[in-house]
Amino acid sequence: MTATNRKMLRVLSGETLETPPVWLMRQAGRYLPEYRKVRKTAGTFLDLCYNPDLATEVTLQPIRRFDLDAAILFSDILVIPDGLGIPVRFEEGRGPVLEPVHVADDLKMLSVDRVPERCAPVYEAVKQLRSALPDDKTLIGFAGGPWTVATYAVEGGSSKNFETIKQWIWRDPDGFQTLIDLITEATIGHLCHQIEAGADCVQLFESWASALAEPEFHRFVIAPNRTIVDGVRKVYPDTPILGFPRAAGRMTEDYIVQTGVDAVSLDTGVPMAQAQAVQKTLPVQGNLDPILLVNGGDAMIQRVREIQTGLAGGPHIFNLGHGIIPQTPPDNVALLVETLRQG
Ligand code: CP3
Repeated sequence: MTATNRKMLRVLSGETLETPPVWLMRQAGRYLPEYRKVRKTAGTFLDLCYNPDLATEVTLQPIRRFDLDAAILFSDILVIPDGLGIPVRFEEGRGPVLEPVHVADDLKMLSVDRVPERCAPVYEAVKQLRSALPDDKTLIGFAGGPWTVATYAVEGGSSKNFETIKQWIWRDPDGFQTLIDLITEATIGHLCHQIEAGADCVQLFESWASALAEPEFHRFVIAPNRTIVDGVRKVYPDTPILGFPRAAGRMTEDYIVQTGVDAVSLDTGVPMAQAQAVQKTLPVQGNLDPILLVNGGDAMIQRVREIQTGLAGGPHIFNLGHGIIPQTPPDNVALLVETLRQG
Protein backbone atom coordinates (compact mmCIF):
# COMPACT_ATOMS: atom_id res chain seq x y z
CA MET A 1 0.00 0.00 0.00
CA THR A 2 1.34 3.41 -0.97
CA ALA A 3 -0.89 5.30 1.43
CA THR A 4 1.62 5.87 4.19
CA ASN A 5 0.76 9.57 4.38
CA ARG A 6 -2.73 8.66 5.60
CA LYS A 7 -2.41 9.09 9.35
CA MET A 8 -5.31 6.94 10.37
CA LEU A 9 -3.94 4.08 8.26
CA ARG A 10 -0.53 4.48 9.87
CA VAL A 11 -2.09 4.13 13.31
CA LEU A 12 -4.11 1.13 12.14
CA SER A 13 -0.88 -0.53 11.10
CA GLY A 14 0.41 -0.08 14.65
CA GLU A 15 2.28 3.24 14.61
CA THR A 16 2.10 5.59 17.57
CA LEU A 17 1.81 9.18 16.32
CA GLU A 18 2.63 12.28 18.33
CA THR A 19 -0.73 13.85 17.48
CA PRO A 20 -3.46 11.26 17.08
CA PRO A 21 -5.47 11.39 13.86
CA VAL A 22 -9.04 12.50 14.52
CA TRP A 23 -12.45 11.84 13.02
CA LEU A 24 -15.85 11.79 14.72
CA MET A 25 -18.67 9.29 14.44
CA ARG A 26 -21.61 10.98 12.64
CA GLN A 27 -19.34 13.84 11.66
CA ALA A 28 -21.65 14.63 8.75
CA GLY A 29 -25.14 15.46 9.89
CA ARG A 30 -27.78 17.80 11.20
CA TYR A 31 -25.51 19.84 13.48
CA LEU A 32 -23.96 21.36 10.32
CA PRO A 33 -25.97 24.09 8.53
CA GLU A 34 -24.42 23.08 5.21
CA TYR A 35 -25.73 19.52 5.76
CA ARG A 36 -29.24 20.74 6.56
CA LYS A 37 -29.20 22.73 3.33
CA VAL A 38 -28.33 19.73 1.16
CA ARG A 39 -30.68 17.49 3.14
CA LYS A 40 -33.59 19.82 2.28
CA THR A 41 -32.99 19.52 -1.44
CA ALA A 42 -32.39 15.76 -1.46
CA GLY A 43 -35.86 14.40 -0.71
CA THR A 44 -35.92 11.70 1.94
CA PHE A 45 -32.94 10.67 4.04
CA LEU A 46 -32.56 7.48 2.00
CA ASP A 47 -32.74 9.50 -1.24
CA LEU A 48 -29.68 11.33 0.08
CA CYS A 49 -27.94 8.03 0.91
CA TYR A 50 -28.60 6.72 -2.62
CA ASN A 51 -27.52 9.93 -4.41
CA PRO A 52 -23.77 9.61 -5.11
CA ASP A 53 -23.17 13.32 -5.81
CA LEU A 54 -24.99 14.55 -2.71
CA ALA A 55 -23.64 11.75 -0.48
CA THR A 56 -20.15 12.73 -1.63
CA GLU A 57 -20.83 16.39 -0.92
CA VAL A 58 -22.07 15.84 2.66
CA THR A 59 -19.22 13.43 3.39
CA LEU A 60 -16.74 16.13 2.41
CA GLN A 61 -18.40 18.94 4.40
CA PRO A 62 -16.84 18.17 7.82
CA ILE A 63 -13.45 17.55 6.19
CA ARG A 64 -13.49 21.00 4.59
CA ARG A 65 -14.76 22.73 7.70
CA PHE A 66 -12.56 21.05 10.33
CA ASP A 67 -9.68 19.45 8.38
CA LEU A 68 -10.38 16.07 10.03
CA ASP A 69 -7.95 13.27 9.20
CA ALA A 70 -10.54 10.82 7.89
CA ALA A 71 -13.83 10.93 6.01
CA ILE A 72 -16.53 8.36 6.70
CA LEU A 73 -18.80 7.56 3.79
CA PHE A 74 -22.19 9.19 4.25
CA SER A 75 -24.71 6.37 4.30
CA ASP A 76 -26.54 4.35 6.94
CA ILE A 77 -26.43 0.89 8.46
CA LEU A 78 -30.06 0.41 7.41
CA VAL A 79 -29.31 0.25 3.67
CA ILE A 80 -28.69 -3.46 4.31
CA PRO A 81 -32.23 -4.35 5.46
CA ASP A 82 -33.56 -1.98 2.77
CA GLY A 83 -31.54 -3.86 0.14
CA LEU A 84 -32.54 -7.27 1.50
CA GLY A 85 -36.20 -6.38 1.00
CA ILE A 86 -37.24 -4.92 4.36
CA PRO A 87 -38.30 -1.41 3.26
CA VAL A 88 -36.92 1.39 5.44
CA ARG A 89 -38.13 4.96 5.80
CA PHE A 90 -37.13 7.75 8.16
CA GLU A 91 -39.81 9.79 9.86
CA GLU A 92 -39.14 13.27 11.19
CA GLY A 93 -38.88 13.12 14.97
CA ARG A 94 -39.35 9.33 15.08
CA GLY A 95 -36.25 7.97 13.35
CA PRO A 96 -36.18 4.83 11.23
CA VAL A 97 -39.36 2.86 10.54
CA LEU A 98 -39.14 -0.63 9.01
CA GLU A 99 -41.66 -3.31 8.02
CA PRO A 100 -40.68 -5.68 10.80
CA VAL A 101 -39.77 -9.35 10.31
CA HIS A 102 -40.86 -11.47 13.30
CA VAL A 103 -40.80 -15.11 12.32
CA ALA A 104 -38.71 -17.38 10.11
CA ASP A 105 -41.43 -17.34 7.40
CA ASP A 106 -40.95 -13.57 6.92
CA LEU A 107 -37.38 -14.23 5.76
CA LYS A 108 -38.40 -16.16 2.62
CA MET A 109 -38.94 -12.90 0.75
CA LEU A 110 -35.50 -11.53 1.49
CA SER A 111 -32.65 -11.71 -1.00
CA VAL A 112 -28.94 -11.09 -0.44
CA ASP A 113 -28.46 -10.72 -4.19
CA ARG A 114 -30.53 -7.54 -4.30
CA VAL A 115 -28.20 -5.63 -1.96
CA PRO A 116 -25.38 -4.79 -4.41
CA GLU A 117 -27.93 -3.54 -6.93
CA ARG A 118 -29.76 -1.33 -4.43
CA CYS A 119 -26.42 -0.09 -3.03
CA ALA A 120 -24.71 0.58 -6.38
CA PRO A 121 -25.05 4.38 -5.77
CA VAL A 122 -23.31 3.91 -2.39
CA TYR A 123 -20.30 2.32 -4.07
CA GLU A 124 -20.35 5.07 -6.70
CA ALA A 125 -20.16 7.63 -3.85
CA VAL A 126 -17.10 5.82 -2.43
CA LYS A 127 -15.44 6.00 -5.84
CA GLN A 128 -16.15 9.72 -6.19
CA LEU A 129 -14.97 10.33 -2.66
CA ARG A 130 -11.63 8.65 -3.08
CA SER A 131 -10.88 10.79 -6.09
CA ALA A 132 -12.20 14.01 -4.48
CA LEU A 133 -10.40 13.60 -1.15
CA PRO A 134 -6.89 14.97 -0.63
CA ASP A 135 -4.38 12.13 -0.76
CA ASP A 136 -3.54 12.31 2.96
CA LYS A 137 -7.13 11.74 4.12
CA THR A 138 -8.26 8.25 5.03
CA LEU A 139 -11.60 7.09 3.63
CA ILE A 140 -13.67 4.89 5.95
CA GLY A 141 -16.38 2.53 4.74
CA PHE A 142 -18.80 0.92 7.18
CA ALA A 143 -21.69 -1.35 7.98
CA GLY A 144 -23.75 -2.18 11.02
CA GLY A 145 -23.04 -5.34 12.96
CA PRO A 146 -25.63 -8.03 12.17
CA TRP A 147 -27.09 -7.99 15.70
CA THR A 148 -27.56 -4.19 15.63
CA VAL A 149 -29.09 -4.24 12.14
CA ALA A 150 -31.36 -7.13 13.17
CA THR A 151 -32.71 -5.11 16.13
CA TYR A 152 -34.08 -2.52 13.68
CA ALA A 153 -35.41 -5.17 11.29
CA VAL A 154 -37.24 -7.08 14.01
CA GLU A 155 -38.37 -4.24 16.29
CA GLY A 156 -39.42 -2.14 13.26
CA GLY A 157 -37.21 0.76 14.35
CA SER A 158 -35.28 1.96 17.38
CA SER A 159 -35.92 0.03 20.57
CA LYS A 160 -35.20 0.42 24.25
CA ASN A 161 -35.78 -3.08 25.58
CA PHE A 162 -35.48 -5.30 22.50
CA GLU A 163 -38.49 -7.33 23.63
CA THR A 164 -39.54 -8.74 20.28
CA ILE A 165 -36.10 -9.73 19.06
CA LYS A 166 -35.07 -11.34 22.34
CA GLN A 167 -38.24 -13.37 22.48
CA TRP A 168 -37.57 -14.59 18.96
CA ILE A 169 -34.09 -15.71 20.07
CA TRP A 170 -35.46 -17.96 22.80
CA ARG A 171 -38.58 -19.10 20.95
CA ASP A 172 -36.78 -20.07 17.75
CA PRO A 173 -32.98 -19.63 17.90
CA ASP A 174 -32.39 -21.35 14.56
CA GLY A 175 -34.98 -19.25 12.75
CA PHE A 176 -33.41 -16.11 14.19
CA GLN A 177 -29.97 -17.42 13.19
CA THR A 178 -31.21 -17.46 9.58
CA LEU A 179 -31.85 -13.70 9.77
CA ILE A 180 -28.40 -13.08 11.29
CA ASP A 181 -26.83 -15.24 8.56
CA LEU A 182 -28.61 -13.29 5.79
CA ILE A 183 -27.43 -9.95 7.19
CA THR A 184 -23.91 -11.33 7.73
CA GLU A 185 -23.62 -12.53 4.14
CA ALA A 186 -25.00 -9.26 2.76
CA THR A 187 -22.61 -7.28 4.95
CA ILE A 188 -19.51 -9.11 3.72
CA GLY A 189 -20.48 -8.24 0.14
CA HIS A 190 -21.35 -4.66 1.09
CA LEU A 191 -17.98 -4.05 2.75
CA CYS A 192 -16.06 -5.73 -0.08
CA HIS A 193 -17.82 -3.51 -2.62
CA GLN A 194 -16.86 -0.41 -0.61
CA ILE A 195 -13.23 -1.52 -0.43
CA GLU A 196 -13.21 -2.29 -4.13
CA ALA A 197 -14.55 1.23 -4.78
CA GLY A 198 -11.76 2.83 -2.72
CA ALA A 199 -12.44 2.61 1.03
CA ASP A 200 -9.12 2.45 2.92
CA CYS A 201 -10.56 0.71 5.98
CA VAL A 202 -13.98 -0.28 7.26
CA GLN A 203 -15.79 -0.06 10.59
CA LEU A 204 -18.45 -2.39 11.94
CA PHE A 205 -20.95 -0.54 14.16
CA GLU A 206 -22.31 -2.98 16.74
CA SER A 207 -24.12 -0.18 18.56
CA TRP A 208 -26.49 -2.40 20.58
CA ALA A 209 -23.89 -4.95 21.66
CA SER A 210 -24.76 -4.06 25.24
CA ALA A 211 -28.23 -5.61 25.03
CA LEU A 212 -27.20 -9.27 25.21
CA ALA A 213 -26.07 -11.54 28.04
CA GLU A 214 -22.91 -13.55 27.53
CA PRO A 215 -24.14 -16.69 25.69
CA GLU A 216 -26.22 -14.68 23.21
CA PHE A 217 -23.43 -12.09 22.91
CA HIS A 218 -21.10 -14.85 21.77
CA ARG A 219 -23.54 -16.38 19.32
CA PHE A 220 -25.15 -13.29 17.82
CA VAL A 221 -22.47 -10.60 18.19
CA ILE A 222 -19.03 -12.21 18.28
CA ALA A 223 -19.63 -15.11 15.87
CA PRO A 224 -21.18 -13.07 13.02
CA ASN A 225 -18.61 -10.26 13.45
CA ARG A 226 -15.90 -12.91 13.17
CA THR A 227 -17.52 -14.34 10.02
CA ILE A 228 -17.51 -10.84 8.51
CA VAL A 229 -13.87 -10.21 9.46
CA ASP A 230 -12.86 -13.57 7.94
CA GLY A 231 -15.01 -13.04 4.83
CA VAL A 232 -13.67 -9.56 4.09
CA ARG A 233 -10.09 -10.50 4.94
CA LYS A 234 -10.17 -13.45 2.55
CA VAL A 235 -10.73 -11.00 -0.34
CA TYR A 236 -8.91 -7.94 1.06
CA PRO A 237 -6.25 -9.15 3.52
CA ASP A 238 -4.60 -5.72 3.79
CA THR A 239 -7.66 -3.60 4.56
CA PRO A 240 -7.96 -2.83 8.28
CA ILE A 241 -11.26 -3.60 9.98
CA LEU A 242 -12.36 -1.65 13.07
CA GLY A 243 -14.96 -3.03 15.45
CA PHE A 244 -17.25 -0.95 17.67
CA PRO A 245 -18.83 -3.22 20.29
CA ARG A 246 -20.58 -0.35 22.03
CA ALA A 247 -21.02 -0.65 25.78
CA ALA A 248 -19.92 -4.30 25.76
CA GLY A 249 -18.16 -3.69 29.08
CA ARG A 250 -16.10 -6.64 30.21
CA MET A 251 -17.04 -8.63 27.10
CA THR A 252 -15.06 -6.12 25.02
CA GLU A 253 -11.86 -8.17 25.36
CA ASP A 254 -13.61 -11.37 24.20
CA TYR A 255 -14.98 -9.42 21.24
CA ILE A 256 -11.50 -8.21 20.30
CA VAL A 257 -9.72 -11.55 20.61
CA GLN A 258 -12.43 -13.70 19.09
CA THR A 259 -13.51 -11.52 16.16
CA GLY A 260 -9.93 -10.74 15.09
CA VAL A 261 -10.63 -7.07 14.33
CA ASP A 262 -7.57 -4.92 13.58
CA ALA A 263 -8.62 -2.07 15.86
CA VAL A 264 -11.36 -1.32 18.35
CA SER A 265 -13.51 1.76 18.85
CA LEU A 266 -14.19 2.29 22.55
CA ASP A 267 -17.38 3.82 23.89
CA THR A 268 -17.55 6.57 26.49
CA GLY A 269 -18.02 4.09 29.35
CA VAL A 270 -14.64 2.39 28.89
CA PRO A 271 -12.32 3.59 31.70
CA MET A 272 -8.80 4.78 30.86
CA ALA A 273 -7.12 1.81 32.57
CA GLN A 274 -9.11 -0.65 30.42
CA ALA A 275 -8.43 1.43 27.29
CA GLN A 276 -4.70 1.39 28.05
CA ALA A 277 -4.72 -2.38 28.64
CA VAL A 278 -6.57 -2.97 25.36
CA GLN A 279 -4.15 -0.63 23.55
CA LYS A 280 -1.28 -2.97 24.40
CA THR A 281 -2.88 -5.53 22.09
CA LEU A 282 -4.25 -3.43 19.20
CA PRO A 283 -4.89 0.19 18.09
CA VAL A 284 -7.75 1.91 19.93
CA GLN A 285 -10.16 4.63 18.86
CA GLY A 286 -12.18 6.90 21.13
CA ASN A 287 -13.67 7.89 23.45
CA LEU A 288 -14.81 11.44 24.33
CA ASP A 289 -18.37 11.77 25.62
CA PRO A 290 -20.43 13.34 22.78
CA ILE A 291 -22.23 15.48 25.37
CA LEU A 292 -18.91 17.05 26.39
CA LEU A 293 -18.64 18.10 22.76
CA VAL A 294 -22.00 19.85 23.12
CA ASN A 295 -20.75 21.47 26.32
CA GLY A 296 -17.38 22.61 24.92
CA GLY A 297 -15.23 25.00 26.97
CA ASP A 298 -12.65 24.10 29.59
CA ALA A 299 -14.38 20.89 30.67
CA MET A 300 -14.10 19.56 27.14
CA ILE A 301 -10.53 20.80 26.63
CA GLN A 302 -9.41 19.15 29.84
CA ARG A 303 -10.96 15.78 28.97
CA VAL A 304 -9.59 15.87 25.42
CA ARG A 305 -6.12 16.35 26.90
CA GLU A 306 -6.63 13.55 29.43
CA ILE A 307 -7.63 11.11 26.70
CA GLN A 308 -4.83 12.25 24.41
CA THR A 309 -2.20 11.94 27.17
CA GLY A 310 -3.61 8.72 28.59
CA LEU A 311 -3.43 6.99 25.21
CA ALA A 312 -0.21 8.63 23.95
CA GLY A 313 1.83 5.49 24.69
CA GLY A 314 0.40 3.45 21.82
CA PRO A 315 -1.60 3.59 18.59
CA HIS A 316 -4.62 5.88 19.10
CA ILE A 317 -7.22 7.42 16.81
CA PHE A 318 -9.12 10.20 18.57
CA ASN A 319 -12.90 9.93 18.33
CA LEU A 320 -16.08 10.21 20.37
CA GLY A 321 -17.48 7.35 22.42
CA HIS A 322 -20.64 7.49 20.27
CA GLY A 323 -22.00 9.69 17.46
CA ILE A 324 -22.22 13.49 17.40
CA ILE A 325 -25.70 14.68 18.38
CA PRO A 326 -27.62 17.36 16.45
CA GLN A 327 -27.36 19.97 19.26
CA THR A 328 -23.55 20.11 18.91
CA PRO A 329 -22.20 23.62 18.18
CA PRO A 330 -19.85 23.25 15.17
CA ASP A 331 -17.36 25.63 16.84
CA ASN A 332 -16.80 23.05 19.57
CA VAL A 333 -15.65 20.55 16.95
CA ALA A 334 -13.15 23.13 15.68
CA LEU A 335 -11.98 23.67 19.27
CA LEU A 336 -11.55 19.93 19.80
CA VAL A 337 -9.37 19.60 16.70
CA GLU A 338 -7.33 22.66 17.65
CA THR A 339 -6.81 21.34 21.20
CA LEU A 340 -5.54 17.98 19.92
CA ARG A 341 -3.12 19.55 17.46
CA GLN A 342 -1.71 21.94 20.06
CA GLY A 343 -0.71 18.83 22.02
O1 CP3 B 1 -20.72 8.95 10.79
C1 CP3 B 1 -21.10 9.51 9.74
O2 CP3 B 1 -21.06 10.77 9.57
C2 CP3 B 1 -21.49 8.65 8.56
C3 CP3 B 1 -22.86 8.42 8.36
C4 CP3 B 1 -23.67 7.55 9.32
C5 CP3 B 1 -25.05 7.81 9.56
N1 CP3 B 1 -25.54 6.80 10.32
C6 CP3 B 1 -25.80 8.96 9.04
C7 CP3 B 1 -27.12 9.29 9.59
C8 CP3 B 1 -23.33 6.40 10.03
C9 CP3 B 1 -21.98 5.74 10.18
C10 CP3 B 1 -24.52 5.91 10.64
C11 CP3 B 1 -24.58 4.67 11.43
C12 CP3 B 1 -25.82 4.30 12.11
N2 CP3 B 1 -27.12 4.48 11.69
C13 CP3 B 1 -25.83 3.57 13.32
C14 CP3 B 1 -24.63 3.07 14.07
C15 CP3 B 1 -23.93 4.12 14.82
C16 CP3 B 1 -24.65 4.67 16.00
O3 CP3 B 1 -24.86 5.91 16.01
O4 CP3 B 1 -24.97 3.91 16.92
C17 CP3 B 1 -27.19 3.38 13.66
C18 CP3 B 1 -27.71 2.67 14.89
C19 CP3 B 1 -27.99 3.94 12.61
C20 CP3 B 1 -29.48 3.91 12.48
C21 CP3 B 1 -30.05 5.25 12.38
N3 CP3 B 1 -29.87 6.12 11.32
C22 CP3 B 1 -30.88 5.91 13.33
C23 CP3 B 1 -31.31 5.33 14.67
C24 CP3 B 1 -31.17 7.19 12.81
C25 CP3 B 1 -32.10 8.24 13.37
C26 CP3 B 1 -31.34 9.04 14.36
C27 CP3 B 1 -31.83 10.46 14.44
O5 CP3 B 1 -31.12 11.20 15.13
O6 CP3 B 1 -32.85 10.81 13.86
C28 CP3 B 1 -30.50 7.31 11.58
C29 CP3 B 1 -30.54 8.48 10.69
C30 CP3 B 1 -29.23 9.10 10.32
N4 CP3 B 1 -28.12 8.42 9.90
C31 CP3 B 1 -28.95 10.49 10.28
C32 CP3 B 1 -27.64 10.62 9.81
C33 CP3 B 1 -26.89 11.88 9.53
C34 CP3 B 1 -29.96 11.62 10.60
C35 CP3 B 1 -30.97 11.66 9.52
C36 CP3 B 1 -31.37 13.06 9.03
O7 CP3 B 1 -30.54 13.76 8.42
O8 CP3 B 1 -32.53 13.38 9.22
